[in-house]
Amino acid sequence: MKRSLICIFLSFTVLLALGADLSPVNLRAEYKHNPYLDDSSPRLSWELVSRKYNQYQSAYQIIVASSAEKITKNVGDLWDTGKVNSSETNQIVYQGTPLSSRQKVWWKVRVWNTNEKVGRWSEANFWEMGLLQRNDWEAQWIGYDLNKLAKRGKYHLPPAPYLRKEVKVSKKVRSANLYITSLGLHEFYVNGHKIGSDYFMPGWTDYNKRVYYTIYDVTTYIQEGDNAFGAILSDGWYSGYLGYALLVGTEQVRGFYGDFPLLKAQVELTYNDGTRQVISTDADWKASIGAIQEADLLQGETYDATKEKAGWNKPGFNDSNWDRVQTFRDKADRALQLYPSNPVQVIKELSIKSINRLENGKYIVDFGQNFAGIIRLKIKGKANDTLVFRYGEMLHPDGTLVTENLRTARATDTYVLRGDQEEMWSPRFTFHGFQFVEVTGLREQPEDDFLVGLALSSNLETVGHLETDNRLLNQIYSNIVWTQRANYLDVPTDCPQRDERLGWTADAQVYIRSAIFNNDISVFHKKWIQDLNDSQWPNGAYPVYAPMPVAANGKAAIRESDTFSPGWSEAGIICTYEIFNAYNDKRIVQESLPYMVKFMDFLKTRADHRGLIREGSFEDISPKGGFGDWLSVGKKTSPDLLAAMYYFHCARLMDKMCTAIQEETLAANYRQLASSIKEAILDHYRQNGMFAVNADHYGDGKGYVEGQNGFAGHTQTAYANAIYMQLLDEEDLTAAGRFLRELVEANNDQLTTGFLGFKPLLPALSATGSSDKAYKLLTSTDYPSLGYEVANGATSIWERWDSYIKDKGFVHNAEMNSFSHYAFGAVNEWMFGNMVGIQPLEPGFRTLNIKPEIPPAGIDLKKVDGAYHSINGTIRSAWDYSGNTRRHSFEIPVNTTVYFHLETPSFDRVYLNGKLITKSKWVQDIQQTEQGATVKLGSGRYELIIKE
Ligand code: BGC
Repeated sequence: MKRSLICIFLSFTVLLALGADLSPVNLRAEYKHNPYLDDSSPRLSWELVSRKYNQYQSAYQIIVASSAEKITKNVGDLWDTGKVNSSETNQIVYQGTPLSSRQKVWWKVRVWNTNEKVGRWSEANFWEMGLLQRNDWEAQWIGYDLNKLAKRGKYHLPPAPYLRKEVKVSKKVRSANLYITSLGLHEFYVNGHKIGSDYFMPGWTDYNKRVYYTIYDVTTYIQEGDNAFGAILSDGWYSGYLGYALLVGTEQVRGFYGDFPLLKAQVELTYNDGTRQVISTDADWKASIGAIQEADLLQGETYDATKEKAGWNKPGFNDSNWDRVQTFRDKADRALQLYPSNPVQVIKELSIKSINRLENGKYIVDFGQNFAGIIRLKIKGKANDTLVFRYGEMLHPDGTLVTENLRTARATDTYVLRGDQEEMWSPRFTFHGFQFVEVTGLREQPEDDFLVGLALSSNLETVGHLETDNRLLNQIYSNIVWTQRANYLDVPTDCPQRDERLGWTADAQVYIRSAIFNNDISVFHKKWIQDLNDSQWPNGAYPVYAPMPVAANGKAAIRESDTFSPGWSEAGIICTYEIFNAYNDKRIVQESLPYMVKFMDFLKTRADHRGLIREGSFEDISPKGGFGDWLSVGKKTSPDLLAAMYYFHCARLMDKMCTAIQEETLAANYRQLASSIKEAILDHYRQNGMFAVNADHYGDGKGYVEGQNGFAGHTQTAYANAIYMQLLDEEDLTAAGRFLRELVEANNDQLTTGFLGFKPLLPALSATGSSDKAYKLLTSTDYPSLGYEVANGATSIWERWDSYIKDKGFVHNAEMNSFSHYAFGAVNEWMFGNMVGIQPLEPGFRTLNIKPEIPPAGIDLKKVDGAYHSINGTIRSAWDYSGNTRRHSFEIPVNTTVYFHLETPSFDRVYLNGKLITKSKWVQDIQQTEQGATVKLGSGRYELIIKE
């Protein structure tokens, strides 16, 4: 929160300092600042600041230079666009001289305003190319199979391989880059220094198709003379345990892609005299075991400090009794690309809130916040003293740790003390979802700071800010932000704690629009959309989670029945659309198009000639009909009705995306398909104007999720989806809005929706004039609601509304009771879109509505302050009211047009920046509407006061 406030403050200060011209700031290439890239035509973007109001860009000029000297002299020898008449500030494709591997280039931009006045050049930024050709790689895959050293028992956990090599460097080094990848996870050292601060690189992909590498500048660590290069490997997603394979009794429970981890790395030195040397992983590397006895993402890490090989990663270490590594061939059809997302890093440190000693001598440490990550230990003790750390999200009433809901995830770390003086340790190859740590083996009460919680997450810029005068709402927002952090960890996961942690597709698709308002997720989802495409089944269906490990028989390796499901598989279309829409990213559409078309063709095979998906269309999958409105309350909405609506939704989104990339014929086909599906749904699934299903078709419901509850069409979920997906024309829309309101009222103003119904519920209520009900649901503290979770102590979003009840405890079986599940956090979309009121009208937020909904009487909320740093700049919308005065403050970035929706019967009591609004020189246009007016405004900071 602080960070975004600072951003807003900074942008205003920069703005004051820069005078009247338009100044480009926040220059990025492929969404990153001064990055390494392997894209031969990267896309460039900037934001604009100005002191003047109503500023737009009329033209730009970009120059790209081959050296820092040239860019200083404003010479664009690689690309000089000249003056381009365009208002675009992002996704500008580099079209200069083709770039080669390792090439570093510098760039700048300047822009013209609407009065044809040119501004100053921006500061110079750069990007550096990675390895573009396969033969740029000299390094070989190397590994050291330690499977035979795994102890016998429930878990098969071999020690981590330690690898090393020494090389003499005889000349002065000008620069040195490390290019590194692994199958499994790695840590790399140069002369004892750990390189980078990333965790779990190179992330989870379908390693049979694709693996990523990263680049680090290691110049400062290389010395003239002897240099030591070292690496530690771990199984990670490649050869470790995954998901619930152990729980459900799958024969294979680990090693889904390979048996042990492999490394491929090269350090490229450029000497002062311009010559080069490449130090690569090859058959000369030596291997042994070290202090890490066990390391697994799900099961945890065991570190025996007495077994440390002092100096193993420094020059001069005697490795004569180390083994030689094995080398392995490359897989010709496995792509080797630069990691597209931002790596997982420590994004917050948490200190201990309390330490409690249990009767059995164990200690329970409370961090006061549910998060995903690891601990950092600081301890002084005797050699061979052993500390065992177990992790949990909750405590039993007697104060002991709840681990039942972790299922077969052992989630246990062990540290054996070296025992000389104070020692520090932190696991590297595992993470846990937790708030509490149980510590066994302490001889005495530890220091208050003996543990620090390290919250791990993909390091994505914070772009959202939300603060209100209602403590419950602030807590709900905090819970959402923490749960997103805990689950945006290389892939968007369902939960970070139990033996699952999979990229479940429904969770991701219902939540993605909410996520956009919190962090810049462009590159995170660029990676995951690739994971989705790589995981598409041969029949065209996107899977239920991605990456999806596949067994030799072509079926899901973790659990054979995990195939596809309506509401889940559509993530391939919906997530692509959301990234396109938020960031004006047409390339993601172009790249995903073949996969999306294939998926649409798959859906066609499930529909009739009109595009109707009927009852029973997914009886062949498990569970029958798919997962449906997962975790809904009461009667189930027919999964086929939902599938039919989702098919319509996808056809509409395909139309929009194909239109944007000028695939006119495809767009027209999908438009036609959408209208045919719509007609067919309204024809087939309605009775007396209400949604209805032929329930007979489901018989006793056996094989369906909660099929015993029966299936219906006249549900909150059905209307919410139909309204949200714009399935209905005006008359039907009004009726649907009425039905939805009635269904909420009939249920004591409570929801009945599950994963698929909750996301559209509040937006649908608002869209049909029931904003009051949306506020009621959001601020409720009764079951089922997010407020109920808060009332029961939640610091994160729970899997179930009643995962824990204060005076009753755990009312559900532990098997499915996660306390960090972002799916129901999907309400964030309404909080930013309706409560703060920021709604894009075109991709990339260049035109938008600011349409805040003021709560009805009886809702304890008088003040809201929200901001979203879009690809176009920071948009802020705040409102408060007291007595008869309502105030709206907003900030609109340059090159942006806002339609502010004013709800008031008359303008003579409305003031903009101190002047009667009808007399304001900043207003571009006012259009009268039924509720009041729409005020068109350009960039600037505004304060609008309504005296009622
Ligand atoms: C996951 C969900 C997921 C679901 C499929 C659960 O075990 O945690 O979030 O979407 O399975 O219904």
